[in-house]
Order: sequence, then structure tokens, then C-alpha cells
Amino acid sequence: MSHPASSPPIRVVDVIRRKRDGGELSKAEIEDFVRGATSGEIPDYQLAAWLMATVLKGMNPAESAALTHAMLHSGEVLDLADLPLPKVDKHSTGGVGDKTSLVLAPVAAAGGLAVPMISGRGLGHTGGTLDKLEAIPGFNVNLPTREFRRVLHACGCAMIGQTAEIAPADRKLYALRDVTGTVESPYLICASIMSKKLAEGIDGLVLDVKTGSGAFMKKEEDAAYLAQLMVETGEQMGKKMAAIITDMDQPLGLKIGNSLEVDECLDVLRGSGPEDLRVLCLELSGWMFFLGSVSKTVEEGKQLAEKTIRSGEAMERFRKMVELQGGDPHSMDDPRRLPQARERMEVPSSQSGVVNEIQCEQVGTACVILGGGRERKEDSIDPAVGIVLHKKVGDSVRAGESLCTVLYNSPQRAQRAKDMLESSYQIGEAAPVQKRPLVHRVISGSGRTN
Ligand code: URA
Repeated sequence: MSHPASSPPIRVVDVIRRKRDGGELSKAEIEDFVRGATSGEIPDYQLAAWLMATVLKGMNPAESAALTHAMLHSGEVLDLADLPLPKVDKHSTGGVGDKTSLVLAPVAAAGGLAVPMISGRGLGHTGGTLDKLEAIPGFNVNLPTREFRRVLHACGCAMIGQTAEIAPADRKLYALRDVTGTVESPYLICASIMSKKLAEGIDGLVLDVKTGSGAFMKKEEDAAYLAQLMVETGEQMGKKMAAIITDMDQPLGLKIGNSLEVDECLDVLRGSGPEDLRVLCLELSGWMFFLGSVSKTVEEGKQLAEKTIRSGEAMERFRKMVELQGGDPHSMDDPRRLPQARERMEVPSSQSGVVNEIQCEQVGTACVILGGGRERKEDSIDPAVGIVLHKKVGDSVRAGESLCTVLYNSPQRAQRAKDMLESSYQIGEAAPVQKRPLVHRVISGSGRTN
């Protein structure tokens, strides 16, 4: 690590040990650490040890702000002042079957916003927007800044990943966290999300903070803590913020897996698709329009979102973005052009009754086992594999009836995934007493009313 000539050198191992013992790190130490992570000077094993110490010991507000700031300034911060539209984005803390970005970006663009979206890959048991987009043949998520701007100007939305130019520290740490069990920290999640989002040159941001068995924040109070942390971080940087705490106690929609999720988003853009996915897309886009002052209320924003879908304008924006980013636009009309798994296998119910619970993290892990996510940093993704759910919480099922279908390319992996899916379903004699709402609560920025 670098250090001023007059002070003694800071040893990385000492920074790790101090965090391990619950001590506080200075702004300069955090900046140095992030610089060393980005340049590759600090090896992965030391980064991973520090990440684990941070998951276990947490951070105080000054450390958390310093980490977000250092990660944001590890690369370029875009200035989109030349684009005469309100710039609003959305980001999710991660879930299973959580695919709303592919619908929201074109809907918001069709309704008059600009959406410069920088996303992540799959993380732990959750899916990632970049992996889903790469299921579209030819789609390039690695555009240089100049190209990113060109696509954004041409169709109002563009979707890329962290690059060597934008949020490179997150690119490095995100990939390590994915495979070292170091995702579940509000401070690391806040810095990861906010460093990407604040680098985008946006005016406003809607956060979809997930809670439940498939979320990183299983308990609602932990999700609320994370939401508050991110809302405050964004507001301190002058952004309009709202965090919607939404349910992830079972997968969103019916399809899990990269190619399958693109297909399901196309259904929503065509005006159909599963109810929960459609409702959440409308809710989040309503908030995007409201924060961007395109609508006076969230409700009005939702109506505008519906209109962009009904008119086909949102679908047109998506097709255009796909084409401009090198993807096959014909796959938007013919999902058979998206990658398809060779084999399929049903997961039958062992008893008759009503689905009381679906252990959502296990469903996400089953998809990772199939090859839809990474178990090691260098693993490549199989975009074709995944799971199609036939039964969700509250549905009746007969013994022998299929709970879900596994789409696979490797029989060994499929068997492991099937076992996991079987044990993730809890079937009871009666319906669950309480149905969880899709939207739990909203934590919006200071003084904002709807
Ligand atoms: N999404 C991100 O971009 N980062 C995280 O740490 C979690 C979800």
C-alpha cells in the first residue's frame, strides 16, 4: 500500500487484523485498501480475508461512507449533463428470479427518462442482470464509456457492467465476494451498489431492497437498515432516493435461469407474464417516473408504465437497445433463438396438499448448481439452464404432480438440483395462514411524499 513519506508504511495484514478485532479503519487506510484492490497490488487472499472481517465486524458510518466514496472514485464518474432528460435508475439488492431491470429500463426510457444502467453479475445464490443480458446472443455488456453514451442517447437506456473505467473496484470485489461467502454485509452491499450507481451520473435512484428466505437480508429489520443506509448515502450525494422493501420469500415470477428470465421479461413487455413480476415492475417504474418528475405521483407513474407496455413502445426500446449493443433483435420475437437446454426433468410432489413455503435461497442455489451461476470465480455460466416453477406458495398440489421443471445440460448437476428443489418445497394440509405482501414498505428520501 502507498503511504506519505513521513508516516510508517501501512501493512495490509495490520489493516485486516484491526478489522478482525473490531477496530476502526481511517479514511486513508480504506482509500489505500481500495486503491490496492483495484490495481491488483493486494492479492485476492488478503482482499478475501478483509472482506470476511468486514462481514463479521461491520463498519461505523464514517468507515461505510469512506468505502463507498473510495469505490466510487476508483474510476470515472459520468457527467450526462448533455442529455436533456431526467436520469433515473433502479437497483436491486439481489434475489431469485429477480429480473425486473430488463423490463424497467425500456419502460422508463419509453416514458421519458434516461436510464444509464450499470449492473452486476450473479452474486451467491442470486441472479445478475449482466448474466441474463448475455443470454441474448451477441449482447455486449462491456461497452466502453463512449459507446455506452451513444446507446443511451439513441434509445434512452443502456445496460453495461462495471468496467476498467467505471466502478472498477466493485468489479474486483464483487467477483471475490460472490465465491467467498462475503456478500451479506450491509456496508459491503451499500458500497457495491452505491459506487456503481453514483458513477452513472443519475439524478435519482429507486432501490429494490429484498427481504425473505431468498434475499441477503433475510429479516425485514436488516433490509430496512440497509435501505436507510443507501438512501442516506445517495441523499448526501444530492440524489433523489427511494427504497422499496419487497418480498423475496419465494422466487419472483415463474422462471429462474438466465435465458428463461429473458423470455419471461419479454412476456411482460408484451403485456402478459406472471402477476407478481408485472405488479413489481409497475411499482418500481412508477417510483422511477415519480423521482424523475415525469409523473406527479407514483400511481400516475404506474399508469404511464402500463401505457408504454400497451402501446408496444417499451418493447421497441428494448429491441433497439439489444440491437445497438450487438444482440440478436430477432430473438426478441422468437425466444427459440435464445439458448435452450437439451434436457428436462420434472420434480413431482411427494404428497397432496397446499404449498406452504418455498425455501427460496435453495431454489437459487439449485440454479447455480445447474450451471446458471458461479461456484468459483473463473466458472463460466450456462445461459440455457434453469427452473420453471409450476407451483408457488398457496397453490394446491396433488401427489405426483410436478412442482417444477428442471432444464439442464448435465445429468449429474440436474440430480443434485432436483434433490435440492424437492426439499425446498414445504407442503401442508391447509393454506399458509398469512400471505406475505409483495411490497413490505417504502423508505423514501427526506420530505418526499407521494
Ligand atoms: N447488488 C450489487 O450490486 N452489489 C451487492 O453487493 C449486492 C447486490
